[in-house]
Amino acid sequence: MQSTLARKINHLGIAVHSLDEAEPFYRDVLGMRSSGREEVVDQAVRVAFFDLGESRIELLEPTSADGPVGRFLAQRGPGLHHVAYECDNLELELARLAASGVRLIDHQPRRGAHGMLIAFIHPKESGGVLTELCQPAR
Ligand code: CO
Repeated sequence: MQSTLARKINHLGIAVHSLDEAEPFYRDVLGMRSSGREEVVDQAVRVAFFDLGESRIELLEPTSADGPVGRFLAQRGPGLHHVAYECDNLELELARLAASGVRLIDHQPRRGAHGMLIAFIHPKESGGVLTELCQPAR
């Protein structure tokens, strides 16, 4: 299946137990600029962003042990949680992927941080790396 779905890496999502404990490494050691925090109720996470060129690092702290990131931390510990690729038309891409048999977690776009539309592809499709597709708010 040839396509130009992924335009660039929009962000990397990293699961952490505590934003307060994780932020100093990115801010003080790597010298990245924080662009604020946001709670995404739908995902049961509090998110801190660090800008890096056209991409961002997204630190994810669970607000509930039962949410997706809370369960990830319990099973695998802190670390890389997902890679987010930017696309132009998420709804169209999801329909195309579903039609070609790609297993999806989200068949419809959901609302993520920064007002972005997001959806996840099943990690079994990508060798265990959770893959997010996102379309920035216009
Ligand atoms: Co993300």
